[in-house]
Amino acid sequence: MNKSKTLAVQMRGITKHFPGILANDNIDLDVYSHEILALLGENGAGKTTLMNILAGLYKPDAGQIFLKGQEVEFHSPKDAITHGIGMVHQHFMLVESLSVTDNIILSLQSSGLNMHTSQVKKRIQELSKQYHLLVDPDAAIWQLSVGEQQRVEIMRLLYRGADILILDEPTAVLTPDEATDLSKILRKMTEEGKAVILITHKLNEVTAFSDRVTVLRAGHVVSNVLTKETTKKELARLMVGRDILFRLEKKKCKAGKAILEVEHIHAINDKGLPALVDVSLQICAGEILGVAGVAGNGQRELAEVITGLRSLTKGKVLVNGQNITNSTPFKVINAGISHVPGDRIGVGLASNLTVSDNLVMKAYRKPPIVQGQLIKKRSILQFVDNLIKVFQIKTPSSETPTRLLSGGNQQRLILAREITASQGMLIAVYPSRGLDVGATESVRSILLEQREHGAAILLISEDLEEITQLSDRIIVMYEGKIMGIVDPDTTNLETISLMMAGQALSTIEKHGEEKTIA
Ligand SMILES: Nc1ncnc2c1ncn2[C@@H]1O[C@H](COP(=O)(O)OP(=O)(O)O)[C@@H](O)[C@H]1O
Ligand SMILES: [Mg+2]
Repeated sequence: MNKSKTLAVQMRGITKHFPGILANDNIDLDVYSHEILALLGENGAGKTTLMNILAGLYKPDAGQIFLKGQEVEFHSPKDAITHGIGMVHQHFMLVESLSVTDNIILSLQSSGLNMHTSQVKKRIQELSKQYHLLVDPDAAIWQLSVGEQQRVEIMRLLYRGADILILDEPTAVLTPDEATDLSKILRKMTEEGKAVILITHKLNEVTAFSDRVTVLRAGHVVSNVLTKETTKKELARLMVGRDILFRLEKKKCKAGKAILEVEHIHAINDKGLPALVDVSLQICAGEILGVAGVAGNGQRELAEVITGLRSLTKGKVLVNGQNITNSTPFKVINAGISHVPGDRIGVGLASNLTVSDNLVMKAYRKPPIVQGQLIKKRSILQFVDNLIKVFQIKTPSSETPTRLLSGGNQQRLILAREITASQGMLIAVYPSRGLDVGATESVRSILLEQREHGAAILLISEDLEEITQLSDRIIVMYEGKIMGIVDPDTTNLETISLMMAGQALSTIEKHGEEKTIA
């Protein structure tokens, strides 16, 4: 076998427009055999579009594709696979009710090949062994886990002889162990001389899995580097176009008066079981209080009780001294509490409405939008344009439906609306979940900025790094109870982990277990 790298694909001057967006702008890309190429970029950078072009799904507006030096033109994914190029999309394209073997037979038939079941099964088993790609040829797709279905998609491409494989954010649906297994399969393929293109926005993945990286930003190639000659920091900077502060600047809190007071509250969850047990806390102006804990230990219910979405069975909630215990969400909003919900698509946004409608949703009853009895169209336009600018929401226009925005931009939109509507108290639930590095950093900066301006913020997150970076104080919840309140600057992660596992802070300190754990 020829072990030396050869140029497998050259894409030259690839340009692709969508209405209002230049998704790919004169892109050059080289792909080599024997190599895993990471295609890195933020959400919306143009990665999927570029690879859909290489896989024959989209036709470019301009540009050329060369395979081993020969120019090719694809009119369909079938054309591409005939030339050895196959793509595993983010949404799998398998028939759920059919077996693995039948799915593969189906995709062979679409290329005009008719094969016997027993023949196909035998070949699946051979490929399975060759690439350590475990799939059961007889299993029905619906019986398989997402990770197994992904292996079937890969098998389907290998079966059809693909030697250039594109995977679009394949680890998004995998556990860390499954991701490691996948990387071994990909490595096996490159050892056999194939080329692999791995689309990702995760820096860890790039450094762990790839040989070379091409970084895309806003439809442009900004860099081509060898993985071993770069760092995560440099890649992050290339990806977002500025330095990423992995640790954000956090000034010492100058705590003002208590904005939120929660006193001995109890509540039950959807199953009728205790969700909050005697929870008390206070948040001052200019303070971020982080809530850590394994998901499902009462964090969600805490946010719901404060925002009026769930009733409490005992206790009191005060905001700015005003009793809002068991008030309606409407009264809670009027009392000055804003809410960035965990489920941003379901609860946070009306996704079919425009950016403009979503932004004014909470402001349309007040000046400057309303003057006297009238809603001012001009004021709406100014209000919306200003928020789009200040919060850097990337959208083709203020009239674009929000569902077309990337996750990061949807989250900025919610933050923009909630922060503008907020009168000093913000409840942020999983504010950066699902966002890439750049969007995460900008969301975190926005929260810190609000803190600087004197907002009281309750931050609920599964990400311990996020909690320790942003919070002035941290409470840890376990089975609806508070295990203790700690200062992130003087408490180590082991202590927080023990509390997350149900140990009260007082018992940890008493027995000095911190030292033995570390
Ligand atoms: N089918 C489409 N119609 C309209 N706009 C699209 C379509 N596909 C992608 N876009 C837009 O093109 C840009 C690049 O998208 P995409 O290639 O999916 O980026 P990435 O995969 O890097 O997140 C985004 O602004 C996206 O909204
Ligand atoms: Mg994509």
